[in-house]
Amino acid sequence: MHFLVRVLSTIVLIGTGWAVLRAQPALSARFALIPQPVSIRAVPGLPATAHCRLSGAARLQADPTVAPALVALCRAILLESRPAGGPSATVVLGIDSVAVPQREGYRLRLTPTHLTLTGHDAAGLFYGLQSLRQLAEQAAPAGLPCGQVDDYPRFAYRGMQLDVSRHLFSVDFLKKYLDLLALYKINTFHWHLTDDQGWRIEIRRFPALQQTAAFRRETLIGHKKDLPHRFDGKRYGGYYTQDQIRELVRYAADRHITVIPEIDMPGHALAALSAFPELGCQRPDGQPGGPYEAATFWGIFDDVFCAGTDSTFTVLTQILDEVVSLFPSRYIHIGGDECPKTRWKTCPRCQARIRREGLRDEHELQRYFIRRIDAHLTRRGRQLLGWDEILEGGSPALTLSPGAAVMSWRGIAGGVSAMRQHHYAVMTPETHVYFDYYQSLHPYEPLAAAGYTPLRKTYSYEPLPDSLTADEARYLLGVQGNVWSEYLPTTGQAEHQIFPRALAVAEIGWSPRSQRHYPDFLRRLRLHMPRLRARHVQAADSFDELTDTVQVDADGRIGLTLRTTRPGATIRYTTSGQTPTATSPVYTAPLRISRSGTVQAQLFAGGRAVGRRYTQAFRLSKASGKPVTMDPLPLAPYRPSSLLRAVNGVAGTSRYNTGEWLGLPGTDFAVTVDLGRVQPVARVGTHVLNYPWQRMWPPVVLTVLLSTDGVTFRPVGEHRRFPLNGINPIETAFTTQPARYVRLTATALPIIPAGQYGAGGKPWLLFDDITVD
Ligand code: ACM
Ligand code: ZN
Repeated sequence: MHFLVRVLSTIVLIGTGWAVLRAQPALSARFALIPQPVSIRAVPGLPATAHCRLSGAARLQADPTVAPALVALCRAILLESRPAGGPSATVVLGIDSVAVPQREGYRLRLTPTHLTLTGHDAAGLFYGLQSLRQLAEQAAPAGLPCGQVDDYPRFAYRGMQLDVSRHLFSVDFLKKYLDLLALYKINTFHWHLTDDQGWRIEIRRFPALQQTAAFRRETLIGHKKDLPHRFDGKRYGGYYTQDQIRELVRYAADRHITVIPEIDMPGHALAALSAFPELGCQRPDGQPGGPYEAATFWGIFDDVFCAGTDSTFTVLTQILDEVVSLFPSRYIHIGGDECPKTRWKTCPRCQARIRREGLRDEHELQRYFIRRIDAHLTRRGRQLLGWDEILEGGSPALTLSPGAAVMSWRGIAGGVSAMRQHHYAVMTPETHVYFDYYQSLHPYEPLAAAGYTPLRKTYSYEPLPDSLTADEARYLLGVQGNVWSEYLPTTGQAEHQIFPRALAVAEIGWSPRSQRHYPDFLRRLRLHMPRLRARHVQAADSFDELTDTVQVDADGRIGLTLRTTRPGATIRYTTSGQTPTATSPVYTAPLRISRSGTVQAQLFAGGRAVGRRYTQAFRLSKASGKPVTMDPLPLAPYRPSSLLRAVNGVAGTSRYNTGEWLGLPGTDFAVTVDLGRVQPVARVGTHVLNYPWQRMWPPVVLTVLLSTDGVTFRPVGEHRRFPLNGINPIETAFTTQPARYVRLTATALPIIPAGQYGAGGKPWLLFDDITVD
């Protein structure tokens, strides 16, 4: 690796000469911009230490083509900049689409006498001013570093979403959010305005949406996985008036942000159905469905818009006409996600529609629904944007209009499929850019929806899949981070989940792939964190927290690697159960774990404990580090790099996607541990995960078997009940007997039962850590 880097730099040196190249790393380090620009160069003839001093008194020259608002913004930035007063460089603003050929691009040139900012267009000048603002806020007393920034975005669409249905946020908070998005050059705000738990947009034609659909009776307390469910008994709701919406759309436009509204259909419609019960499906006997009320719980609900009655389309298109009049965006998002077909299957009207239209099944009915809405938006001069389910039920007779675009959230497959069909796609995979996921493994993290998506993982996301041809890749619009608000009752919690991960999305969307380096992003982020705090943003600072890897080597030894990205920090640890102190041993190399116990570790900087304490329990047994076979093999994302993960002494947790759990969807399997020699065995343990809300189900039967020869296995225990919601410890104790091989066989539940999340699909069967005593 080092060798390769050295060779490449030598070649570059020949082309560009020493001065530029040697100046580059140091210069880049002085420009702590997020997102990282395309290029930062020294200005020839200027020493590396030269500064551009700016103050509110700076002379400001602007081309006549520069809008007064941009001149005013520049003036405001100069007034805020440090140091105030004293001599100042002259500031020159201009628009020149030849000098800066890329849309939204800019060139910022700083010398001791002049600051020259040229935008390709108004957006480019605006983004140049955001860069200037970032530099001015970090400036040393001597002024800004001199140099030239040439910059433009990689993707035309750089988005952040916010769900205001599950929890409502004030217009002031939304403005603060838009200000932050603009500062980081994000140009799209996807406003998730309707869902089962509340309708949040005033539609003048239908007052019932404001009076009824905008409110829910009460709200779930805590996480939906915690049983029994408890509710707060408090009516909750509200909506944005059309005046507020127009104001926010204007506020966003002033910041070069397009607001895309989302009106979710045909699923996620319970709140709307509470106002329009006649738009729900009929019962099999033709009686009306319902009654409906806005959901008080988080999930997916069987009651959806009836696709059989024309009234549904009449009302929805009238709603969309008001939406179109409020939002000038090219795209109107109509959801399309997570629509159960339960009601459609038994609704006489939906079944009649299927027959009349010659549709194959309810999946084609979903496509019929989307297509009808698509045609209406097209008539209104807009284009449909929807979650990747809008591709469902596609047949040649049911093509979407050419301009319809897909938002890929269930991984990237939907986006890839869309681009192959020459539909535009926005990548927003749940695996990397869902900010309702936890970003820390610490047990005291604020309550979040699920899983684990640390900043590092978000940052590692690359939106352009390798599998696409250049022609297909043209249909990649960009990337977006999603903020679902079930567990975000306060703005502080929202900010904690959004920041700093949104800054990673900003960089993924804007910076060239070649300019993206996580350690350098962290270096810049550390300079931005105090600025976020100064803006009263409760950004999470867990990105430098201690993280670990537990590995089993070829000889079956378990090693614990600890790491932090925090510069200059020392890791101190204990294995005694004591809290680590400034005199505890310093971690220098992976720790060998040879017995059960708990490792605790703490970061120290300048002799003081910093950040939260790391704690990891190890439960070692005769199975620890012993060879494991599994048939069939586990499947991604629950297929770790080594099956030894099943015997590493660490049990999987509720943050189920860290690679600790192993498993398969809806498939029987056998997993066998070879203890190495015949020995007395009296107990076998493991865990299975029972999270129906995440499509994770325990087995129908789990059998424990022993063998001395690996050929003949005898059962010693059988489990058929896994009563705990969550992690079920499985213990099998028996009279001591000789064994070398320990096997668990699992009979999987083949299909998720009706009425459950993901009904009809395959449930994941996950287990972790096998112990044998
Ligand atoms: C989604 O997360 N249901 C788009
Ligand atoms: Zn129906």
